[in-house]
Amino acid sequence: MNYEQIVDLLKEHNQEQLLRYYEELSDEGKKKLLSQIEKVDWSLLDMVKEHGTDAVRGVIKPLDAVEITEIEKNKEAYYQTGLKAIKAGKVGAVLLAGGQGTRLGSDKPKGMFNIGLTRDLFIFEQLMENTKKVVEAAGVWVPFYIMTSDKNHNDTVSFFEEHDYFGYSKEHIKFFMQEMAPSVDFDGKLLLEAKDSLSLSPNGNGGWFSSMQRSGVIEDAKARGVEWLNIFAVDNVLQKIADPLFVGAVLDKGYISGAKVVRKNAPQERVGVLCLEDGKPSIVEYYEMTEEMVTSRREDGELTYAFGVILNYLFRIDELEKIVGQKLQTHIVEKKIPYIDDKGVLVKPEVPNGYKFETLILDMIHLFDNCLPYEVVREQEFAPIKNPTGVDSVESARELLQNNGVVL
Ligand code: UTP
Repeated sequence: MNYEQIVDLLKEHNQEQLLRYYEELSDEGKKKLLSQIEKVDWSLLDMVKEHGTDAVRGVIKPLDAVEITEIEKNKEAYYQTGLKAIKAGKVGAVLLAGGQGTRLGSDKPKGMFNIGLTRDLFIFEQLMENTKKVVEAAGVWVPFYIMTSDKNHNDTVSFFEEHDYFGYSKEHIKFFMQEMAPSVDFDGKLLLEAKDSLSLSPNGNGGWFSSMQRSGVIEDAKARGVEWLNIFAVDNVLQKIADPLFVGAVLDKGYISGAKVVRKNAPQERVGVLCLEDGKPSIVEYYEMTEEMVTSRREDGELTYAFGVILNYLFRIDELEKIVGQKLQTHIVEKKIPYIDDKGVLVKPEVPNGYKFETLILDMIHLFDNCLPYEVVREQEFAPIKNPTGVDSVESARELLQNNGVVL
């Protein structure tokens, strides 16, 4: 599109502010800005008007989990099945590290955060240590894929290089980048982060598989014989990666996907719950649950909707390929978004000032015919780092790591 066409487009969408500094730009800057504007998905902006209206949910029913008591009974069988698949190279790991970690408040990728006390221990390092445990048991490297975004790709790759991949095999680590989406202020006006650039941010963790396809790393995985992918978040430093027991349970039970879950520590705990929606697996967020769902109990006294997801999933690649074309719901999320004001000065807000648009991996679950909720002991496998202090923080994760024998 040429300049005149872009002007018309912006008039149509009431977004002419984007060309406020156009005349000051170099030819290169002009080209960059026009091409970013051309790529905007204008349908996102309509969501701002609809924001606040509740999504309509289907009929929700409980979904039985494989609970710790059952896992204990079948431990040996699950372990052998899982380890066999890992030894055969059928399981790959996918680390979702494209987020901006705004709650933690560091400018660097979250994985670079140092959680050590008497020594350096970076989040990335701890995750690689966790993976090396299974590598040791299986005697093979687990192919390891890391999703980054345009905002943190170079920092992440350099950090791994500088630290010699934390002792992991470089040949078995591949990076790929996710896609970006524009951000708007609360009135739905697109923001600029520089005179020649829209304010773009990672578009959520829902697009991870299409990004693996687009970047070609899925072909790398398939060429290595990988059939299953274990996807997990960057911030849970206690999680087991390519866990043979989890893999074995999903395989032995004939499922096409699985989700690690923890028993809620209180009915009101703010976690998404894995259940059935219209007969298919689905995650209902804590704020979408009715009071009845929150408090309802089974005959044995346990909560009916007892298990919260911890963002550690296992998916079969051929099943992912079947669902990848289906559109995921876009969520509109209030965030602190740096922008340049009408004097051209960069502002880094202290409080949320607009919306980002994201698709989420949790919405993917509903596209699968089945998903096995697999219970893990939260004190041993769930130490998310979202905030500097308080709940799900650096502090709480440090304590949990130490309780599990990790020297900090
Ligand atoms: P969070 O929902 O915690 O988001 O991501 P975040 O961006 O890291 O942190 P806040 O909300 O700004 O504080 C859960 C997982 O999904 C990844 C994150 O890196 C983390 O592992 N993620 C999130 C992506 O890979 N891409 C995204 O666009 C968003």
